[in-house]
Amino acid sequence: MKKTLDFLAEHHDRYERELIDILKVPCISSNPEHNQDMRDMAELLKKEMRSIGMDEVKIIETDGHPVVYSEWLNAPGKPTLLIYGHYDVQPVDPVDLWDSPPFEPVIKNGKIYARGSADDKGQIYIHLKAIEAWLATQGSLPVNVKLVFEGEEEVGSTHLEAFINEYEEMLTADYVVISDTPMFREGVPGITYGLRGLAYLQVNMRGTSTDLHSGSFGGLVKNPINALVEILAQMKDEDGRILIPGFYEDVLPITENEHTKLKNLPFDPDEFASSIGAPALFGEAGYEYLERLWARPTFDINGIWGGFQGEGAKTVIPAEAHAKVSMRLVADQDPDDIAKKFTAYAKSLVPETMEVDIDAMHGGFGYVTDLDNPGLQAGVRALKRAFGKEVDFLREGGSIPIVKVFADIVKAPVLLMGYGLPDQNAHAPNENFSLYNFHKGIESIVYFFEEVGNLK
Ligand code: BES
Ligand code: MN
Ligand code: MN
Repeated sequence: MKKTLDFLAEHHDRYERELIDILKVPCISSNPEHNQDMRDMAELLKKEMRSIGMDEVKIIETDGHPVVYSEWLNAPGKPTLLIYGHYDVQPVDPVDLWDSPPFEPVIKNGKIYARGSADDKGQIYIHLKAIEAWLATQGSLPVNVKLVFEGEEEVGSTHLEAFINEYEEMLTADYVVISDTPMFREGVPGITYGLRGLAYLQVNMRGTSTDLHSGSFGGLVKNPINALVEILAQMKDEDGRILIPGFYEDVLPITENEHTKLKNLPFDPDEFASSIGAPALFGEAGYEYLERLWARPTFDINGIWGGFQGEGAKTVIPAEAHAKVSMRLVADQDPDDIAKKFTAYAKSLVPETMEVDIDAMHGGFGYVTDLDNPGLQAGVRALKRAFGKEVDFLREGGSIPIVKVFADIVKAPVLLMGYGLPDQNAHAPNENFSLYNFHKGIESIVYFFEEVGNLK
């Protein structure tokens, strides 16, 4: 192990240079103008996987952006890890709010600033460097490894479920490992044992065939924006309870043990509120802050539009109104079932003066894993060895919809060993990744391979 750790120290600066190189590629999956960049990024990862000594390295086509796959299966009798991550990134707008261009990485105060630094290219790179260090210094890994890096996570992993089904046999593994979550606090490693799911829909209301003069018609027709806000206002009560019939049916209750665990994590609501510029926090009555954030579902209007939005005033009754809405779900809520329940309830509230159509856009299940799982415990030991601190047990409010698909099809527990930080600005301007976490992350995965190798 000493040789491997020395290798990490020796190559410390090269790792940062290479990280800078992969962060330069503007691989924004949602924008077709970046299709070539997606390809270039996939090619770069393929080259990297070859150079660190992975076998069967290939770019596998899907109906969208490709998956980059490779394996190293020369540890017979040892567990197999399927390491999943995503090489696509979010769009960069509003680009003027970045202190430096999103695809020209800069290092400042121990952090590297670039789109995709934390979410998720910096984190997938941790695994590549840990594999490289083992193979370069020991000639082998103590576990079997399969790498699956997709290019469509930020657009809902559109084609990954089909991919997993098609390649089910190739993907068999004992544990799925994902580094795509933040730690809870700087310097303290965390393991995430739960994620929320998601149901995302668009609501379109139509009142008339064209916009109307609000003086000549107002009073005789129903305004679709009025109708839409009336309906959306009935989704939640003042205490933050969601009013969609049957919405909470499959929500797993928070156990006493978990309640205590979450309560013991330091969380200062005033500090949190001021860090996001909010006058005060809001949430479902009867639950602790972190329970609301991690273990309870939400309903949010993500966007709403229609009518006149230009300068000045225009007296108009718009023909149409639209809203994007989403619900963060928790285990065991089913996103399709929730989309149906939302749709049925919303439709029941639509007045007969209106036409409505509701499109379910995408979704995914939430996830919780068992804290006693031996793989998770191996992860805890590895993180503790690298960071020298007791590990935080976390859930997350965000979603990685494919996690549940992996759990069901690969039939292996999913271990979420994330190295981001709460102020990483994922999806926002000035996304950043702590270089301390990057290097400690590599070290922890080096240990993790050893710990998992010792399991059988
Ligand atoms: N890495 C995030 C998931 C995440 C976010 C985990 C915050 C923990 C905390 C992932 O890349 C992401 O952004 N997921 C989307 C999913 C959506 C596009 C289907 C999300 O959570 O909104
Ligand atoms: Mn991510
Ligand atoms: Mn993301």
